[in-house]
Amino acid sequence: MASIPTDKITIPALLARKAVGPKIVCLTAYDHPTAGILDETGVDLILVGDSLGMVVLGYENTVPVTMDEMLHHTRAVTRAVTRALVVGDMPYFSFHLSAEETVRNASRFLKEGGAAAVKIEGASKKRLKLVEAMVEAEIPVMGHVGLTPQSIHHLGRYRVRGTAAEGARRIVDDARNLERAGAFAVVLESMPVEVAAEVTRAVGIPTIGIGAGPACDGQVLVFHDMLGFSTGYLPKFVRKYADLHAVIRGAVGAYAADVREGRFPDDATSYHLKPEVAAELRPEKVRTPKRGKKI
Ligand code: KIV
Repeated sequence: MASIPTDKITIPALLARKAVGPKIVCLTAYDHPTAGILDETGVDLILVGDSLGMVVLGYENTVPVTMDEMLHHTRAVTRAVTRALVVGDMPYFSFHLSAEETVRNASRFLKEGGAAAVKIEGASKKRLKLVEAMVEAEIPVMGHVGLTPQSIHHLGRYRVRGTAAEGARRIVDDARNLERAGAFAVVLESMPVEVAAEVTRAVGIPTIGIGAGPACDGQVLVFHDMLGFSTGYLPKFVRKYADLHAVIRGAVGAYAADVREGRFPDDATSYHLKPEVAAELRPEKVRTPKRGKKI
């Protein structure tokens, strides 16, 4: 079994991985115990993704997720992490009005959330200016190109991006422009292997793929998807490393049967009084006070 890395992950350390490896391991986390396990296991990057809206808050897509929700979960994650670099995801409409508001919202991930960086979807000209403004304010930024789930209403459905030459070229340009604007890494989501390989060759910053094939400098998956905890549709690019849904259903079913059939709680899971205190509670030991006597 490979040894668990203990070196603290910094942005320069991540940049160095591009040249010398090993590949960057990234997963999402939204809560304290999960983040603790990822950190102990040597995951390099922990993304508090706005996917939390769908995965743990039950929204239909990521659009409704708020700054308050993101900060609440980011704090839970960073309280558990000592080694990994934690990235907070800028939710929809936290970076759409002005550079000033974008920088203020991004700074909250660092100051209140304890994260080391933020992630922002898209690479339009306006978005690049925002990246510049955040970097200027000392906020490390991770870009995100290809499929950008916050654009779901424009896109209509989640689908692979960059399958035609023009779209593929745009993804490469977007990643290059994000690098120029100062991003320290870029997520490549749902695109052909060849496009992700070309982006990875064309930029000097690490690429973190999700549904973008093996050429990327690192990989990210949604924690609940790779554990088989999520229900419903799973994209083709997810590999399930466990079937937690079945494990949890089995455990909850066993608990319910034990409660109904009187097997839980038992002696081992109950507290007891000392015998002499228990004796005091027996009705025959309870003295009836004499009439008129105050007790
Ligand atoms: O929100 C998220 O979890 C993400 C990853 C899928 C990259 O953006």
